[in-house]
Amino acid sequence: MPNTPPWVHALLEWYARHGRRLPWRAARPDPYAVWVSEIMLQQTRVETVEPYFRRWMARFPTVAHLAQADEQEVLRLWEGLGYYRRARQLLAAAREVMRRFGGRLPAEPAALRTLPGIGPYTAAAIASIAFGRDALALDGNLRRVLARFFGIDTPIDTPQGQRELEARAHGLWPPGRAGDFNQALMDLGALVCTPRAPQCPACPLRPWCAAYAQGRVATLPRKRARQAVPHHTVVAGVARRGAAVLLAQRPAHKMLGGLWEFPGGKVEPGEDLPTALRREWREELGVDIAVGATLGTFRHAYTHFRITLHALEVRILHGEPQPLQAAAVRWVPITALEDYPMGKVDRLIARQLQA
Ligand code: ADE
Repeated sequence: MPNTPPWVHALLEWYARHGRRLPWRAARPDPYAVWVSEIMLQQTRVETVEPYFRRWMARFPTVAHLAQADEQEVLRLWEGLGYYRRARQLLAAAREVMRRFGGRLPAEPAALRTLPGIGPYTAAAIASIAFGRDALALDGNLRRVLARFFGIDTPIDTPQGQRELEARAHGLWPPGRAGDFNQALMDLGALVCTPRAPQCPACPLRPWCAAYAQGRVATLPRKRARQAVPHHTVVAGVARRGAAVLLAQRPAHKMLGGLWEFPGGKVEPGEDLPTALRREWREELGVDIAVGATLGTFRHAYTHFRITLHALEVRILHGEPQPLQAAAVRWVPITALEDYPMGKVDRLIARQLQA
């Protein structure tokens, strides 16, 4: 390995000793397991992913098993991980892998990127980790660690920052070891070179680190100025019929697509909660309602906005709800609510009804 810099050797030695033992890591990794893990790990912490990954692999051990799955069961297994589009795209991609690639995931980044849900980062991660291809997988940890290591001032969440990091880091690993190089930096970023309070005394890269030498560990990496996240007030209605409540399924192409919810929507400026809820039920379901007591108020943060959701009891005055702006509507026994995949807030409401 004549052209491998000494710090890369130090990094790989550190990884061999201190790297995390994770269920998708192995001497000969299963490409399907690596793929599932990389999709789950998008925007999601390793500790959160581990139990989901184990349940998933027990239920869908191969691409072929997944390709035959029912979307509702897939969403139910995913429930709580968020970004549900990932689950629907993983299922669609498994079906494509059966049809186009005979059930075997392709090894090249360019071919991987033709599959739903696989972008440049994920293609590089799978190709390097599962197939030993020479690809740099620049996730959030790598950006932070490398920006500090090389002393890069360009904001790391811009195309220029990305290009600069790639130019500095590409091909520094010994041939065939990109997967270990990538994962070593991921683990270093998670365990040592953390966003706040990095543990420089424990870092194997300290002798070569530009930020450390320049006393800039606390001020790197730089990021673009963030926009404030908007806040929305949302109402949802709980209608009962005997032991059942009304659920609506969200349209497939929308946020939380395919999941079930207590129908409602955003409160518009100038509306009070009952007025907004009456309007939403008329628009979405074509029925007039009377609005009753408040069941609860819930707060939740999504990526690009925050909500405060008020759940209110409602009574349908006349008519039968129609799926005018929903994929489906259904009266569901309260005892069967667990069978229906939901987002975090709706699950809290469902649990409250079951209690
Ligand atoms: N985050 C994304 N991919 C990862 C991996 N393979 N190991 C650890 N953290 C990760």
